[in-house]
Amino acid sequence: MLRDFSKCAQLTQLDLICTQLINLSTQAFNKNNGNKPKWEQAIEQIKTQNTGSLYFVTPYLNIGAHINNLTLEKALKQLMPWRKGPYQIGDLQLDSEWRGDMKWHRIIPHIKPLKDKVVLDVGSGNGYFTYLMSISGAKIALGIEPFLLFNYQFKAIRTLINHPPNAFVLPLRLEEIPKKPLFDTVFSMGVLYHQKDHKLHLKQLRNVMKPGGELILETLIIDLGKVEKIIPKERYARMRNVYCLPSVNTLHTWLEDEKFKNIKLLNITKTTSKEQRTTHWIGNNTQSLKDFLDPSNSNLTIEGLPAPKRAVFICQK
Ligand SMILES: C[S@@+](CC[C@H](N)C(=O)[O-])C[C@H]1O[C@@H](n2cnc3c(N)ncnc32)[C@H](O)[C@@H]1O
Repeated sequence: MLRDFSKCAQLTQLDLICTQLINLSTQAFNKNNGNKPKWEQAIEQIKTQNTGSLYFVTPYLNIGAHINNLTLEKALKQLMPWRKGPYQIGDLQLDSEWRGDMKWHRIIPHIKPLKDKVVLDVGSGNGYFTYLMSISGAKIALGIEPFLLFNYQFKAIRTLINHPPNAFVLPLRLEEIPKKPLFDTVFSMGVLYHQKDHKLHLKQLRNVMKPGGELILETLIIDLGKVEKIIPKERYARMRNVYCLPSVNTLHTWLEDEKFKNIKLLNITKTTSKEQRTTHWIGNNTQSLKDFLDPSNSNLTIEGLPAPKRAVFICQK
């Protein structure tokens, strides 16, 4: 996969940073992780299956391959939890916790066309959206995702595609991407609230964007009249690493402070259990949205904070 990334990147301006990205990714893949033998064994089992072509029929990212459902399901389940998707391989439906297609449809009609663009998907998870970006015509769609399991999930899906598109996921953090203005379109979806320093994240996004490039920022917000932001004391909807929930006005100001232009709020969406649900692909811990909300008031989280709402902003460098 790294070889394919290198070939593809060399045909774009990413040529400038390609060797550095490959070296960092190799180091990340070589780090000790007790789960690697299990994940690698799963990939070997998946390699025994037929491959097929990749296409999107909502909600599923489909691979039209003739596969053995039982063998493939067993191998893919070695890579649980599947948070992002959903995927369908042959007639095996991999119903991830999230219906990613719902977010995609909220965003894609409103952004500059991705055709021939060099695209960065920060915090790409297993690459569900990264694949959609390349299917939409990107010259290259690069997902970066530090959590190693999600990189193996990306590999698993890629192994099943006969002519994989120009979509790649590398085990990198945004902080590791050289500060060069190389990307036409940058997506940061579901990442900002996980950052201890939101300002730094916005600066880093801007650093890698070309002048005139487009940022799609999707993140949790609050919608409580005059309240500017909430800093959860402990958990938020049972998540340990949520650092800040701004109002849309506060988020708008943060983007202005970082000198983004043409800032537009696209939409605000309350997360529902249609979009985030329990499925048998998320493993032993089967908790999902309904378990994170107050059982007597679905407008509050279990900790008594406002239930999750997400805003999408689009702006330019
Ligand atoms: C909530 S998930 C969102 C996944 C996907 N983008 C989506 O919208 O559904 C956030 C992901 O961002 C990753 N992440 C967190 N901090 C990051 C950073 N500094 N650079 C790159 N990825 C990061 C996490 O590992 C996690 O998989």
